[in-house]
Amino acid sequence: MNVEVTLRAFRPADLESVLKIYPAAFPEEDLVPLVEDLAGGRDAQSFVAARENRIVGHVALTMCRLEGDGRECALLGPLAVHPEFMRQGVGSQLVRTGIDAMRQRNAAAVLVLGDPAYYGRFGFRAERTILAPYPLREEWADAWQSLWISDDRLRRPEPLVVPGPWADQSLWR
Ligand SMILES: CC(C)(COP(=O)(O)OP(=O)(O)OC[C@H]1O[C@@H](n2cnc3c(N)ncnc32)[C@H](O)[C@@H]1OP(=O)(O)O)[C@@H](O)C(=O)NCCC(=O)NCCS
Repeated sequence: MNVEVTLRAFRPADLESVLKIYPAAFPEEDLVPLVEDLAGGRDAQSFVAARENRIVGHVALTMCRLEGDGRECALLGPLAVHPEFMRQGVGSQLVRTGIDAMRQRNAAAVLVLGDPAYYGRFGFRAERTILAPYPLREEWADAWQSLWISDDRLRRPEPLVVPGPWADQSLWR
C-alpha cells in the first residue's frame, strides 16, 4: 500500500536527514560522500519525499553530456528510501518526479545503473549506444539503462561525460 508523502525539491537544510537514510538503506555501501558532493555542487537536481516533516526518501539527478553531440542527459542516482518506508511506493514517486523534472528540462535521456527488475517498470531499458563513463563489469551490462525523452536517439556509440562527483571509477565497478 502506498504511504502518503510530499515530494519536493531538496533544500540544503535537508542534508543531515538525507545522509542518515543512506547507511540505513545501503548498509554495505558508503554513498554518503557522493551524496554530499552532489548536494554541495551545481550539477545535480535532487528531490526528497517527506512524511509529516520527516525526510523518508531522496533521489539525485546529475546533469551530464553526450561526448559527441553535446546533448544534455541526466544520470539518476543515488536513490534511497528509509527501510521503514520501503515497498510503499516512495521510491516510485521519487523516480517519477525525477523523470518529470528531466522532461521539463528537455534532457535527451535519463540514464541509470541499477536493477532492471526495478527500473524497467518506469520504462528504462538496457542502453548500448550511450556508453557508461567507465567500463562496467560484464554482469552489469543490463544494469546500465536509459529512458529516452528525445525521439532523436544516438546512431553511433558515445560516452556519457559525467561531472566531478561521478568521475571516480570506483563508483562504476
Ligand atoms: C530500491 C528502493 C529505492 C525502492 O524504493 P521503494 O520505495 O522501496 O520501492 P517502491 O515501493 O516504489 O517499489 C515499487 C515496486 O518495486 C518493487 N521493488 C522494490 N524494491 C525493489 C528491488 N530492489 N528490486 C526489484 N523490485 C523492487 C516493489 O516490490 C514494488 O512492486 P509492486 O508495486 O509490484 O509491489 C528502496 O527499496 C531502497 O532504498 N533500497 C535500498 C537498497 C537497494 O536495494 N538499492 C537498489 C537500488 S537499484
